[in-house]
Amino acid sequence: MTDVREAEIDTGTAYGMKPATYRQELVEVGPGTPMGELMRRYWQPCALSEDLGSDKPQKVRLLGENLILFRDKSGRPGLVHENCCHRGTSLYFGRIEEDGIRCCYHGWKFDVKGNCLEQPAEIDGGRNRAKVRQPWYPVEERYGLVYAYMGPPDKKPVLPRWEHLENLGDDEYIETRWKPGYGPLNDDPYNPLKFNFLAAYENTMDSPHLPWLHYYHSCDQFTGAPLLRHDAEDANLPPYAHIKDLAGQIVAERSELGVKQGVPMPIPGHGLFLASNEAIVPNMAVVATLIDMLYFVPVDDTSFISFMLFRTKKGEQRSNLNELHFGKTWWEMSEDEHQRSPGDYEAQFSIGVLPAHSREHLSQGDVALGMLRRRLAEAVRDVQEGRDPPGVRRGPDADDVLRIGAHGMIPYTAAA
Ligand code: FES
Ligand SMILES: [Fe+2]
Repeated sequence: MTDVREAEIDTGTAYGMKPATYRQELVEVGPGTPMGELMRRYWQPCALSEDLGSDKPQKVRLLGENLILFRDKSGRPGLVHENCCHRGTSLYFGRIEEDGIRCCYHGWKFDVKGNCLEQPAEIDGGRNRAKVRQPWYPVEERYGLVYAYMGPPDKKPVLPRWEHLENLGDDEYIETRWKPGYGPLNDDPYNPLKFNFLAAYENTMDSPHLPWLHYYHSCDQFTGAPLLRHDAEDANLPPYAHIKDLAGQIVAERSELGVKQGVPMPIPGHGLFLASNEAIVPNMAVVATLIDMLYFVPVDDTSFISFMLFRTKKGEQRSNLNELHFGKTWWEMSEDEHQRSPGDYEAQFSIGVLPAHSREHLSQGDVALGMLRRRLAEAVRDVQEGRDPPGVRRGPDADDVLRIGAHGMIPYTAAA
C-alpha cells in the first residue's frame, strides 16, 4: 500500500467540522440572560394601538414570556402574565370588563396592574384578595404602538420621544407597520420571522450587502428595477467598478446611542450616494431614507417581529415598501425566482434559526457590524455592572427626547 504524499492531501475540507456555536450573550433573550436583561431595560413595542380593542384579550409572546395584552373597557391597556394566579387558567379565555379582565375559570377579576378586584365565589368577595396579584408589566402607548417595560421596576426609564418623529406639521402623521415584505406567513400575531433577531438587526450595519445583494446580485429589492446586475452592467466599465475597494470607503462610527454606518451606493444616472443607517442599542435602527424607526423585537430566541414607524405626509403611505422583484411580491415569486434573485430574507434566514458565530470570518467590510456587536456587548456589561445602558433616562425630570445622527442618502464624493 502506498502512502498518499503530503502534498496531495486535500486541505480545508468539511470533514470534522465542529458544531457551530453562537455568542449567547448577544443572542438569547429569556429572563436572566445577558441580552434578555439588556432588552428589559428598554420599552419594547408589542402591538399596534389600533389593533388593541376591548373586545377580546390577545396573546403576546415577548422576550420568551407568554403574556396577555388587553384594553379594559375604560380604554386602559394592560399586560399580564398569561396564567391566572389562582389556578393557572389562561387569561386568553378571559372576559374584558370596564375595569379589568376576568378569568373564565372561577371569575377572579384583575385590573391593568394585576390587582385582584373580585373573587366572586369567595366569602365576602374574597377577604384575602388584596394579597394576591396577577403578575403584570407597565404598558404605555406612543406613535401608534403599545410599548411594554419588562425590566426591574426601579430601573424603569421614561418612554422616549424621538426628535425626528416629533413636532409634526399639520400635513404629517406617524405611520405604523409591522409586516415585513417577505417571509412565510404563519398564524402568530404579527407573523414573526422564524430566526433570531440578531441576524436581521445586524443587517442594518452590514454595509457591503447593500450594493452587492441588492444591486449586483439581485434586482433592486425595493423597486424591482434590474439596476446594476453584473450581467446588465455598462460595458464601458470594468466589472463591479462601483463596488471595487468598497470596504475601504465604509464610514462606521460610534454614536451616542449605537453605531452609524454609511456605504457608497451606485444610483444609476445619479452617481454615488452614501446610504446612512444608525443602529440604536439594543434592537432599534433608522434605515437610510426608508424607515424612520425599526424595532427588531424578539418573541423568543428563534423568532422576532419588526415594528416600523414612518413620518409621512397625510394622504401618502411610505410603509408600502413596494418590495417587488421583477414586478412580483415575495409571495408571488417561484422557488426558482427566489433562488436566482434573493433578497434580505433569503440572505438572513438561510444563516440558520440561530447564528453560527464560531464559523464566521469577519473582514474589513464588516467594520460597522463588528462595531455594533462590541457596542451591544458593552451595553450588556453596563447592565451587569450596575450602569444604565445607552439612551436610558430615568426619573421625573428626565429629558425624554432622544436624538439620532443624520441618516438618509447623501451625495457621496470618495475621499481623495
Ligand atoms: S384559575 Fe382563574 S379564577 Fe380560578
Ligand atoms: Fe438589505
